[in-house]
Amino acid sequence: MSKPSIYITRAIPQETIDALRSEFDVEVNPDDRALTRQELKEKVKGRAAIVSLLTDTIDGEILDAAGPGCKIVANYAVGFNNFDLAAATARNIILTNTPGVLDDATATHTITLLLATAKRIVESDKYVRDGKWQGWAPMFFIGLDVDRKTLGIAGLGRIGKNVARKARAFDMQILYSDVQPDSAFEAETGARFVDKATLIAESDFLTLHTPLTPETRHYIGAAELQQMKPTAVLINASRGPVVDEAALVEALRRRQIFGAGLDVYENEPALAPGLAELDNVVIVPHIASATPDTRRAMGEIVVRNIRKVLNGEAPETCVNPAVLG
Ligand code: DGY
Repeated sequence: MSKPSIYITRAIPQETIDALRSEFDVEVNPDDRALTRQELKEKVKGRAAIVSLLTDTIDGEILDAAGPGCKIVANYAVGFNNFDLAAATARNIILTNTPGVLDDATATHTITLLLATAKRIVESDKYVRDGKWQGWAPMFFIGLDVDRKTLGIAGLGRIGKNVARKARAFDMQILYSDVQPDSAFEAETGARFVDKATLIAESDFLTLHTPLTPETRHYIGAAELQQMKPTAVLINASRGPVVDEAALVEALRRRQIFGAGLDVYENEPALAPGLAELDNVVIVPHIASATPDTRRAMGEIVVRNIRKVLNGEAPETCVNPAVLG
């Protein structure tokens, strides 16, 4: 009997590919680039499983191209806003993600962006490299204090909580906003549950950890930026469209807030016009989870989910549970 066929839309760690190859017939996109939609449609044809990335839009058209033998699309990511959940459920296809194993890397990256923005690390590094430094001066590159300041967390999931715990090392006061309070977390960290308006107005550092949904699109726009403290910093390592990037460029240009640290963008890999010219923003290319241990662990979840589903069992991390009946 022939082995089930799996398509991987872009190279992921070799050990993940090898683990899948030991059980299945696996083809991997040989080019280190995202497939075009047409290429994706052709490549998924007749596959029992697809390993997708957050850059692949998986909707009814792609699932129909895969055909009736497709049982699972396993996202190599924790975020899954690239999935049309209803379309997959209607076709009886299981969708999975990789939660839990990115929390430390993403939270560490969030703190890195926070510190780099507060201490003007990228801007001052460039200054030295450009040969402009004339020697120590007392009023030179004044940044922001971090210790004992207020950290606002929008979205208290696993990553938001992890950020809060790391921030406690700086004795930061934690405010958070979510659909409901978490009393155990409050007892552990002293965090305070607040509404969105309070979160925005009182945070010295505001960090976003919500998934991208119709409700969180442009959670931070021109009105919210106006309500932030002029000394505040905005950090986004969630999904780009949670922030209205054009409004952020305008607020940074006018020095309406102190700065921003961004890992994600509204139309990746494009940046909003003017963003890259600003010196009060740290911009890195969606690398929050880019560590060897994290990438490996993401692959392990993908392999276990595919193995289970193709053996007729429920996966570990289904994001459209209605399909399981
Ligand atoms: C995710 O997994 O959703 C990250 O954005 C990339 O690893």
